[in-house]
Amino acid sequence: MLDLVTIPQEVASRWDREWGAYLLTEDVNPFVVEADCLEHVGALDGLDERQVFDAVLASHPSYTFAVQLRIWASADRIVGRHVVELGCGPGLLGKHLGFVVDRYLGIDVSRVALAMARGGAHPNCRFVHINDHDLLAGHAGLYDTVVGREFFIHQNYESAKGLLRLARFLLKPGGTVHCDFFARGDGEAGTVYDARAEHDAEQVSSGYAFSEQDVLDVARDVGLSVVSQTEDCRAWRRFVVLRFDD
Ligand SMILES: C[S@@+](CC[C@H](N)C(=O)[O-])C[C@H]1O[C@@H](n2cnc3c(N)ncnc32)[C@H](O)[C@@H]1O
Repeated sequence: MLDLVTIPQEVASRWDREWGAYLLTEDVNPFVVEADCLEHVGALDGLDERQVFDAVLASHPSYTFAVQLRIWASADRIVGRHVVELGCGPGLLGKHLGFVVDRYLGIDVSRVALAMARGGAHPNCRFVHINDHDLLAGHAGLYDTVVGREFFIHQNYESAKGLLRLARFLLKPGGTVHCDFFARGDGEAGTVYDARAEHDAEQVSSGYAFSEQDVLDVARDVGLSVVSQTEDCRAWRRFVVLRFDD
């Protein structure tokens, strides 16, 4: 029996409904344009974390805004690498990273989002539900890099712990995890709780703020070392790089 995190069906269904509501009100084009219809307009080589975060790799005439990558990872952790995205949603990042990575695996709790992600993806992109442990087992130890995009902001201490254990399970020794936690919780960015708060079962997309010490604690709990923590007050983020030491 694999010791991997299992997300309750009730939480999965709530995320399905979040996506349903989001897609009814927002511009769906970035989520539905097929990868082979995108124009590859940028390159990442030599970029640092901040530059990759802001970078635009691909575009389409139907886009009403530029799709920035918004992941806190330097180019050398992405280009030509085996990359996992935790919380991939409908696969937007995979459609853009697919141009430059060797292999991409998207993992999510919403089967609605995953069904969209599989449609029109690059051939080097695969998608697995977080509770499909037998499928995840086939990916153990194969990846260089795990990223989250608008993802760790929605995790409290306990759920982040389960997800970082999964990240460690998927990584090769020496691999890295690139997290986008919330930096502080004074309410300006919607409902933001302290990292140690219980998960809000009603509002699954609530935010949780991690302190520097929370990050040190959760990394220690799962056996990852902390490479860097970068607080970005403008974006209300604590960007964190963790490493699975060999
Ligand atoms: C704000 S969305 C970001 C989606 C995508 N990364 C993007 O940038 O378009 C957060 C995603 O995380 C997924 N999610 C939330 N909690 C999760 C968990 N514990 N395990 C896997 N996926 C989860 C949700 O279903 C949702 O698709």
